Amino acid sequence: MWVNRARSCVPAKTRLIKFMRLNLIFSADKCEEKHVAGRAAIVIDVLRATSVIISALANGAECVTPCKTVEEARALALSGRSGKILGGERRADKIPGFDCGNSPLEYTRERVGGKEIILTSSNGTKAVKAAAKADRLYIMALLNHSAVAEKVLSEGKDAVLVCAGTDGEFSLEDALCASLFINACAREAKNIILEDAALFAKAFGGHIINTNNNIYNLLRNSMHVSKLESLGYKADIEFCLKENVFDIIPELHGGKLFI
Ligand code: MLT
Repeated sequence: MWVNRARSCVPAKTRLIKFMRLNLIFSADKCEEKHVAGRAAIVIDVLRATSVIISALANGAECVTPCKTVEEARALALSGRSGKILGGERRADKIPGFDCGNSPLEYTRERVGGKEIILTSSNGTKAVKAAAKADRLYIMALLNHSAVAEKVLSEGKDAVLVCAGTDGEFSLEDALCASLFINACAREAKNIILEDAALFAKAFGGHIINTNNNIYNLLRNSMHVSKLESLGYKADIEFCLKENVFDIIPELHGGKLFI
């Protein structure tokens, strides 16, 4: 179900890159400047903020501006040019008065083409803000993980994966996405130094790849999948758990995400 891992991110030959360190932070609340300084940060919130960002930009949005609070998002939407789209969630549901919620399926080409999206979510946009001091910041989800691995490997710079998690806690879907990325990098390049959390994720991802390719089955009892299913967001889960539908890589420039 929903697996498209066949599209390998890199050519068959193992790459020789300079020594590159890879680490992993399991929740936005644990991410401090010292973790991202001098590195590329790769922010992950599979359910659903980074899947929303990727989908909106793939559908022609001009940019996505991540905000930590609802108040900040409302103020930004009113400032400057008109026609911005205000999107996001609290407790998984659309915020009163906002144009869109946190479903990637809402961010269609008709709705977002050419528009700036102002987005706030409980954990995902918080993770972007927490990692913003990184040398570079990329957005990843299952929807684009091979493209991001390809880019990070081609740059060969130290990197840290920043999982959004949920309210300061570990989230299985984000860790799973990170572990697939780490396995792809470790498989394709020599000279990668995995720090402890990344080593742990590599073992977890290796187990998944070798034993069970069905991501939904792995996640079906997880907190976030159960919560979204109980609230009626099953279609979002199906979409967000698809692998490598897009090859775009949103990147942060001046507080806004562009491709
Ligand atoms: C978040 O940022 O916490 C999530 O995207 C929540 C959600 O699934 O809507």
